[in-house]
Amino acid sequence: MRRKIMGMNYLRLAEVFAQPKKNKTVSVRGWVRTFRANRFIALNDGSTQQNLQCVVDFENTEQALLKKINSGAAVQITGKLVESMGSGQSVEVLVEQLNVVGEADPELYPIQPKKHSFEFLREKAHLRVRTATFSAVMRIRSVLSFAIHQFFQEKGFCYVHTPIITGSDAEGAGEMFRVSTLDAKNPPLDDEGAVDYKQDFFGKETHLTVSGQLEGETYAQGLGNIYTFGPTFRAENSNTSRHLAEFWMIEPEMAFYELEDNMNLAEAFIKYILEYILGKCEKDLEFLDQRLANEEKTKPQNERSPMGLIEKIKFVVENDFKRVSYTEAIDVLRNCKPNKKKRFEYLIDEWGADLQSEHERYLVEKHFNAPVILYDYPAKIKAFYMRLNEDEKTVRAMDILFPGIGEIVGGSQREERLEVLEKKIETLGIDPEELWWYLDLRRFGSTPHSGFGLGFERLVLFATGMNNIRDVIPFPRTPQNASF
Ligand code: 4AD
Ligand code: MG
Repeated sequence: MRRKIMGMNYLRLAEVFAQPKKNKTVSVRGWVRTFRANRFIALNDGSTQQNLQCVVDFENTEQALLKKINSGAAVQITGKLVESMGSGQSVEVLVEQLNVVGEADPELYPIQPKKHSFEFLREKAHLRVRTATFSAVMRIRSVLSFAIHQFFQEKGFCYVHTPIITGSDAEGAGEMFRVSTLDAKNPPLDDEGAVDYKQDFFGKETHLTVSGQLEGETYAQGLGNIYTFGPTFRAENSNTSRHLAEFWMIEPEMAFYELEDNMNLAEAFIKYILEYILGKCEKDLEFLDQRLANEEKTKPQNERSPMGLIEKIKFVVENDFKRVSYTEAIDVLRNCKPNKKKRFEYLIDEWGADLQSEHERYLVEKHFNAPVILYDYPAKIKAFYMRLNEDEKTVRAMDILFPGIGEIVGGSQREERLEVLEKKIETLGIDPEELWWYLDLRRFGSTPHSGFGLGFERLVLFATGMNNIRDVIPFPRTPQNASF
């Protein structure tokens, strides 16, 4: 892959390292990570984790030019690629020609060659991708996205683009961002003094979608197997390291699938994409594995994770997920030490309790020591569309819980019986008029069907060993923050 610009052939660093053309002249370009001893440039162009050492002949280089070689500067370099004497790299470039394309004032450029905290870098989110950690995370994010499409495309699933602006609240949780063109200062009012959305752009109240599922279901009832992969928006005021207001979700939906088929697909899917990055992102994973290991060393012994990053990924790929019913999980939780000693923030005393992240993590990290698929949850704590079990108390829900993350997947078999669904909607006080098209699916050629949603950023968190979800999406949106 060569690009001809300004009469020169530039190689990307990934290509230089993949097939080093030793003793040949090469041209490369990128940004200076560091410049040491007026001699050694660590160059990176974003194509790989590895920096290319470029050795400047400082005695024959003008002082004025040397002064411009600072961290962050963009440079083009031509020189001979030779075996490196230094440790840590196989080849280096002996600089013959150096052109500073864009300078970076060392007094002002915030990303200096020292350890910056992730909090600091979040405020410089427009520059943080020039660091080793963030470029590794973003490359892995990109490869994961590709693997997701490949998995479903290989299986013949159809990629469907569900709408971003919607008139329905799929999850019924009411945590939505309004989309409106009405004058916020002076909205039109109806006879009762309420805002008159009939006069709004769409002639009704609309929001940003919280899930593509309901529209996805309509397409599954015609195309058979579909998936969506798009942005979703939730106005929940959860300022945690696991929640974003804008995140990406993968939602497959399959006609004729029952709950167990759904679990099998979800497990195979997660294993496939994680295995894919083990093969394709080796250098980035090794780097992040080391980063995590260094971070773990700063923690007290008893809080350290027993497994490294790559080890954790392999563990998930190679082992069966534990499948446990909600009822069994509640028994475990009710009788566990942190519950009895009141160390949980939310104590579990009866069947029906909603599980918090502390409980999910206890099950995965302490009790089962493996990813867990929890199924058959109480109907009361789950969304209206889940299929009611024969016990009339539980629904065919399934959540997948991951170490260090908690819930990574939420899914279910859907209620395909018209009367049962109508009754449910009525008890919950949902207006059936709003869902007429969704109910139509149960009127015409209804099938048992299932699907799930995987939170993409939670997956990237797991795959990169990062701690905060704000650090695995380019520009995080969280309460009180939509900078950039
Ligand atoms: O469990 P949830 O709410 O399920 C749904 O939206 C279903 N409609 C999915 C389906 O069956 N098609 O969300 C699914 C996943 C969660 O398990 C979690 O990984 C992620 O989406 N998620 C979030 N990720 C980041 N920030 C948030 N605020 C998230 N809320 C949910
Ligand atoms: Mg959920």
